[in-house]
Amino acid sequence: MSTRAPAVAARNLIKTYPGDVTALGGMDLDVDAGTVFGLLGPNGAGKSTTVKILTTLARPDSGTATVAGHDVLRHPDRVRRAIGVVAQKSGADPVSTGRENLLLQGRLYGMRGAAVQRRADELLDRFDLADAAKRQVKGYSGGMQRRLDVALGLVHRPEVLFLDEPTTGLDPEARTAMWDEISRLAGDEGLTIVLTTHYLEEADRLAERIAIVDRGRVVVEGSPDELKGELRGDAVRMELRAEGDARAIDAALTGLPGVYEALVDGRRVSVRAEDGAAAVPVLLAALERAGAAVAAATVARPSLDDVYLRYAGRRFSEAEATDARQAPALAPAGGTR
Ligand SMILES: Nc1ncnc2c1ncn2[C@@H]1O[C@H](COP(=O)(O)OP(=O)(O)OP(=O)(O)O)[C@@H](O)[C@H]1O
Ligand SMILES: [Mg+2]
Repeated sequence: MSTRAPAVAARNLIKTYPGDVTALGGMDLDVDAGTVFGLLGPNGAGKSTTVKILTTLARPDSGTATVAGHDVLRHPDRVRRAIGVVAQKSGADPVSTGRENLLLQGRLYGMRGAAVQRRADELLDRFDLADAAKRQVKGYSGGMQRRLDVALGLVHRPEVLFLDEPTTGLDPEARTAMWDEISRLAGDEGLTIVLTTHYLEEADRLAERIAIVDRGRVVVEGSPDELKGELRGDAVRMELRAEGDARAIDAALTGLPGVYEALVDGRRVSVRAEDGAAAVPVLLAALERAGAAVAAATVARPSLDDVYLRYAGRRFSEAEATDARQAPALAPAGGTR
């Protein structure tokens, strides 16, 4: 446990955009120094807006926040010196080389002479970019570019590193490599990492603590194991042959022994059950009586998706699909960038 001041403390951040868009509706965050913290949420949940406020790139309408002990509104310059930022969209200069980008970044932070050269080479080595150091960044693969972005965020040895969707748009191999990289960084003495993601697996794997964000606020916070552990029993998911009468289905499932928290969503029915395998035949019979035929059923330990479902009232994948349609295209398109 750390005894230092929290790396991030945000209270009741509100941010609206023209057109009555509430990006943040009362965001609260506490991040312990030296930990990896994940902000997990679907498209448009308010992750980037939170990062922009915490990194002094945007102002909240109201609310307060400190980063590395400095108030983001009163001392933005101190905050900027203490943090590294890897934005959702790469900030590297595409026509400069990787090494030139690192040198420029170091000089912007007042590093000079041999010290900045040494730091650039150290980071090129560390992020496996030494061979590409003298090539223009526009020729880098998506994974190389993202690794350079992270290196750029680290040049001046920040206390708190913000990574806004470090792996979106990367292929699975590059994503795994980036995960390893971030895990290694997490071992660096004193470094706090705040990362945003819309990959459940990424949050589960990298973050010691997670805040699940939905529609501009934190719906639940804890370690991945705590969050999953709070959901007793097994998750049983069933797919109906056709959409049924949701009320009748709900009534049929309520009160079945060892079955709780049923959620009907179109053709999908999710319940949690004390013993999933034992519950399946009971559930199938009950649904049959309610006139709903089941096409498929699976039993699993609760996942972060089930945690999200419980607190946000809808599936993560659905929130992604609906919210993405409403939100302007801020996220990069898939594939390499
Ligand atoms: N500059 C802006 N002008 C208007 N609306 C904005 C602006 N930036 C963000 N928004 C809106 O605020 C909400 C939150 O956006 P934000 O970018 O913080 O979400 P996000 O969680 O980072 O999403 P994504 O996963 O797509 O990056 C969305 O509804 C978005 O459309
Ligand atoms: Mg974003």
